Amino acid sequence: MHHDMTIHDKVDAMQSGSALPRDAERPAFPIPANVYAETVLSVRHYTDRLFAFRITRPQAFRFRSGEFAMIGLPNAEKPVFRAYSIASPSWDEEIEFFSIKVQDGPLTKYLQKIVPGDTVLMRQKSTGTLILDALTPGRRLFMISTGTGFAPFASLVRDPETFEKFEQVIVTHTCRDHAELQYGVELIENLKHDPLIGELVNDRVTLYSTTTREVTPRMGRITRLIENGRFYTDLDIAPLNPETDRVMICGSMDMIKDVKELVEARDFVEGSVSNPGQFVVERAFVG
Ligand code: A2P
Repeated sequence: MHHDMTIHDKVDAMQSGSALPRDAERPAFPIPANVYAETVLSVRHYTDRLFAFRITRPQAFRFRSGEFAMIGLPNAEKPVFRAYSIASPSWDEEIEFFSIKVQDGPLTKYLQKIVPGDTVLMRQKSTGTLILDALTPGRRLFMISTGTGFAPFASLVRDPETFEKFEQVIVTHTCRDHAELQYGVELIENLKHDPLIGELVNDRVTLYSTTTREVTPRMGRITRLIENGRFYTDLDIAPLNPETDRVMICGSMDMIKDVKELVEARDFVEGSVSNPGQFVVERAFVG
């Protein structure tokens, strides 16, 4: 299994003299204006393409579950910032992110190497469209994701407000391989057993994970599984209906386009905070 290195391991390592504080190894660049400099608390690698990490949360930082922030590293005079959905809920004392690793990605080629004790920069303002206030009231909430597009739903599904507004929450996650689904599977499992919100959530949240390349019992793109009805029969649920259902979509550009067309063909109308509707979309971070 994975070993999760925490800030405590890191401090122990530093005190025993086996590792230098990493910040001393590189030149100090000024922290840009309107940016928080936070400390990495833990890092977990799921595959050679996906990892998750947690950082300290600035006292004054407020966000709505489902929003994204701009993050970067203090490794240059003008650091590269990228949009990252916050994967932790708004009540959490720490901030969590679920990230892709791109070997030559301007940010992720460095970000994938962070260890506890390192500094991550985060712009002070968060924003985004995948928020509960952008949806009109409904009974079932469908969260449709691929890859790191799961991140905003990791936030929303851990927010009790989601369950105050919706009776049933169905999260779909599609990845190429089984190992890429692990983050989501563990998160939902832990949520169901959570001492605080587990009871509220238990039978009301369903995770539907599928692979498209590695052979597993449940395979296929979510678009196809919705169109051929397999999604509904697998879960024994009624088909998508704009009167009762709301949909949030997050993934690659192509996936968003296809799922958006699919729900629009079923008469769902796109919403925003200023004009709430029946579905909302956001592109997942890509490089
Ligand atoms: P596929 O393997 O058939 O391309 P990626 O790792 O490239 O970001 O993709 C994540 C997942 O999203 C993959 O399982 C991929 O399936 C799926 N996917 C890619 N494009 C679409 C799309 N247009 N509609 C639905 N799923 C998609």
